[in-house]
Amino acid sequence: KQRVLTGITTTGTPHLGNYVGAIRPAIAASLVAGNESFFFLADYHALIKCDDPRRIERSRLELAATWLAAGLDTERVVFYRQSDIPEIPELTWLLTCVTAKGLMNRAHAYKASTDANEAAGEEPDAGVTMGLFSYPILMAADILMFNATHVPVGRDQVQHIEMARDVGQRFNHLFGQGKELFVLPQAVVEEQVATLPGLDGRKMSKSYDNTIPLFEGGSKGLKEAIARIVTDSRLPGEAKDPDNSHLFTLYQAFANSDETAAFRTALLEGLGWGDAKQQLFELIEREIGPKRAHYAELMANPERIEAALQEGARKARALATPLLVQLREAVGLRRFQ
Ligand code: TYM
Repeated sequence: KQRVLTGITTTGTPHLGNYVGAIRPAIAASLVAGNESFFFLADYHALIKCDDPRRIERSRLELAATWLAAGLDTERVVFYRQSDIPEIPELTWLLTCVTAKGLMNRAHAYKASTDANEAAGEEPDAGVTMGLFSYPILMAADILMFNATHVPVGRDQVQHIEMARDVGQRFNHLFGQGKELFVLPQAVVEEQVATLPGLDGRKMSKSYDNTIPLFEGGSKGLKEAIARIVTDSRLPGEAKDPDNSHLFTLYQAFANSDETAAFRTALLEGLGWGDAKQQLFELIEREIGPKRAHYAELMANPERIEAALQEGARKARALATPLLVQLREAVGLRRFQ
């Protein structure tokens, strides 16, 4: 039996990378009998990267509608907004006090910023907030708060889950008195789609502006985005190299093994990029198309989404509140008798 938990930051429009890396495997895991699932909108995390309140609001709505349209069943899944659970920032502080600064120095997002600054000849920490620096601690609190055992994510998040284990283990060691206060989580990464490429072949990411939106823009938007995938200059009739084609990688993420094999052969035999894009479009549309009407309906009825999130927050807090009482006692913040 697994307790599955995952979150997505509410900074942009949900894209195919979020879908294949997190949403699709998480929903599949939630349907396995006996599993318990916790999926949430990481809106406190969004504040780290975004200071546009309207963008955050819009992204929260799009992301909630995306989860539900993708098949999340609120009867099986505790579905909530991070910012509706005040126990999470409280736990973040308890964890912050046991987390070594040196561990945070190694976090990818922080290192990427300092490396970029150094390359540009600037102060390493220029523009780095404490939010960015300690981002993995907030993420550890998300995970440890609900004693998650399995966290489905893309490869870019694996380091953060390892950090959550380190921090949880340290807390157990310092305050558990032989008991496991926290369960240590493990990342679940689907090897084939661990890093879905974007339009330009780099990792699909909001920050590279190379994403293919999942629902926004409709099937027309999907087609237009696919048309902008960068390919080499080989002409129809010339053999293509599937292993060096991110278009092929995208295809593989939505195809079964027979379809993948047939597409590989067609590329080797000279399928034109235009036709290849058409086939990719049809393949993705097969999976996403039937869910679009539900997405549109949810976007038009935000109060229904709100009701689902409130119910989710209630269920989540029913677990978070008693655990936090126990944790406060463990660190010495108990009431006088
Ligand atoms: P975020 O919002 O950047 O991404 C959300 C999820 O989508 C996956 N993903 C990808 N997978 C494959 N290929 C890609 N190109 C791609 N782009 C994104 C990410 O790996 C992730 O699984 N800090 C997290 C959100 C978070 C979280 C958590 C996740 C907050 N608390 C607790 C798990 C557990 C983040 O910013 O993900």
